[in-house]
Amino acid sequence: MHTAITPAERDQLLDAAKQALQRAYAPYSNFHVGAAVLTDQGQIYTGCNVENASYGLTICAERAAIFTAVQKTHGKLVLRAVAVANRAQVPCSPCGACRQVIAEFGEDVAVIFQGKNGIEESSIANLLPETFRLS
Ligand code: THU
Repeated sequence: MHTAITPAERDQLLDAAKQALQRAYAPYSNFHVGAAVLTDQGQIYTGCNVENASYGLTICAERAAIFTAVQKTHGKLVLRAVAVANRAQVPCSPCGACRQVIAEFGEDVAVIFQGKNGIEESSIANLLPETFRLS
């Protein structure tokens, strides 16, 4: 489990993720994604997916948001929550690579995403058991 975030925080994060998806650069997949992260310092940072003609260079919205959070945070980044939204409003949980990056910045992170039955809240420990860690 994870430390609960409040309904207000959850709504605020989802709104921020929806705003961010409007900046997505996704001409190849046309799948526009936004993400918002909440840090333990109470800051929110957002990101969108950025694709490339060389498809493998694409970065997901979640990692874009987290990399911005790293740059903006004094000291070590600790995440409390990550929210993801997509323009198509179809089920979309963070990909495996993004799960590994989320796990780097907190063992107790709430993850909010569109599931099969609407918005779901899980935890990174639940989504990525046996996270790879050095040492
Ligand atoms: N994508 C994300 O940004 N986040 C996800 O959680 C799933 C996938 C992006 C990557 C790519 O630009 C597009 O969605 C289609 O896979």
